[in-house]
Amino acid sequence: MNVIILGAPGAGKGTHCALIREKYNLEHVSTGDMLRAEVAEGSPLGMQAKGYMEAGKLVPDDLIIDMIMKKFSHSTGKGLLLDGFPRTVAQAKALDEKVKVDIVIDLAVSDATVIQRITGRRMCPNCNAIYNTRYLNGSDTCSACGGKLVQRADDTEETVKKRLESYYAYTEPLIAYYKAQGLLHTVDSETGVEQGFADIQTLLEPIA
Ligand code: AP5
Repeated sequence: MNVIILGAPGAGKGTHCALIREKYNLEHVSTGDMLRAEVAEGSPLGMQAKGYMEAGKLVPDDLIIDMIMKKFSHSTGKGLLLDGFPRTVAQAKALDEKVKVDIVIDLAVSDATVIQRITGRRMCPNCNAIYNTRYLNGSDTCSACGGKLVQRADDTEETVKKRLESYYAYTEPLIAYYKAQGLLHTVDSETGVEQGFADIQTLLEPIA
């Protein structure tokens, strides 16, 4: 099955995708993680993307579509778990030409929760595991691989507000796009991770 996880910044896309990938053996494709790897490598794409990401803006569609199509051409053949892609209607149309989407799950969350979660997020630069200072008890070590946790460059309150603006302008319209295709389901992501994942499994089990 091919699954899209939609949602505002900090809605819990990465957190839930780690659980979904494990349970359903899907290929997790996160355009955010891919871009951060390009930036860390200093590749030409990374150098072009860095300024947009740090300003809380979307990276232009042509760069993203080119990057994702290259990724699909080296696909493992497993079902896809798309996290952070598509993020514009143009990206969704490019995806439609390549992949049959089976379900779209929108993680619904308030702006206030987004800001609180994102400013407390820490992540592992080695394995991309996601944490929050609320549950770290002062630790700065990744429990999965031992890496030193970092705060993302775009996780400041000011940048998060810009990212929310980009979300409402360009990504929220995808809710109507997928609703019209009968593919959209909404999960309340204000709940804890456990409840949210239980609700996601209820949606995925019948098509897994
Ligand atoms: P990306 O990395 O995709 O960022 P994002 O969409 O803003 O989403 P986040 O990664 O910030 O949040 P998330 O929903 O994954 O939440 P998480 O699970 O980490 O993209 C970064 C940038 O790259 C973009 O701004 C853009 O510039 C560019 N980009 C990427 N894709 C693009 C595309 N397709 N087109 C154009 N540009 C693109 O959770 C957040 C925190 O909350 C964590 O600390 C977590 O522990 C905690 N948490 C999560 N769920 C819960 C819960 N239920 N209860 C309590 N805490 C929770």
